[in-house]
Amino acid sequence: MIRSPMKSRNCFVYILLLYSICLISGVFSLGSVTLERIEIFTTHDWLKYTPTVYFRCQGENKKMLPDVKKKNIVYTFKGEESWQPLTELTDKKCKRCGFYEEDTVGSDDVFDEWEFCPSDFMPPKGRYIRFKGNEFNATFLCPQCKGTAHSSEVPEEKKNNVTVVIIISSIFSVVCIFGAVVGYKYWKRRKREQDQARFLKLFEDGDDIEDEFGLDHM
Ligand SMILES: *[C@@H]1O[C@H](CO)[C@@H](O)[C@H](O)[C@H]1NC(C)=O
Repeated sequence: MIRSPMKSRNCFVYILLLYSICLISGVFSLGSVTLERIEIFTTHDWLKYTPTVYFRCQGENKKMLPDVKKKNIVYTFKGEESWQPLTELTDKKCKRCGFYEEDTVGSDDVFDEWEFCPSDFMPPKGRYIRFKGNEFNATFLCPQCKGTAHSSEVPEEKKNNVTVVIIISSIFSVVCIFGAVVGYKYWKRRKREQDQARFLKLFEDGDDIEDEFGLDHM
């Protein structure tokens, strides 16, 4: 009696899992953005000898760049530093981000603030160079973001992947539903048979009682 609903619930969980995988791998794929290289051309806080530079996207935490201390020096990163990645970008959505410098008095200074878009990352490596005269020159990396708008090859491949996942999950759903129906029918038949058996047993027991009463007294 418990088996049939359990089966369909398992089915449902599998379908949900499959769709989640589909969504994660395709439609809402995340891309980690790392900083590969930065050079600042200026500092804004006259009171401090070394600047405190950070990167931040709107609504997110500050990502401090503890190594960036001097202007006109190129700092390169492996992408594995403790403060990396800078942010995550979803498939199509841009974020408003920027480089800032903490200020001892008043609000923080802005190197630059701009719309950070997945489509800005160029194939083949998913590199994006942002340069602002007299402020900074930074190179970002996002291998998963590359070419969302600049190359037609990658999105096509991605689309195909999504299609395959959708087809597989559809087939799986159909099989699951079919299995649930068959399971339910089987369970119903079993129940009917059991009921019949119990019914017959009732008669047999009745016979036994009759036998006992009838035969024993002879
Ligand atoms: C900024 O950095 C990139 C990458 O190293 C370099 O190719 C480019 O020439 C730099 N641009 C300027 C204006 O310094």
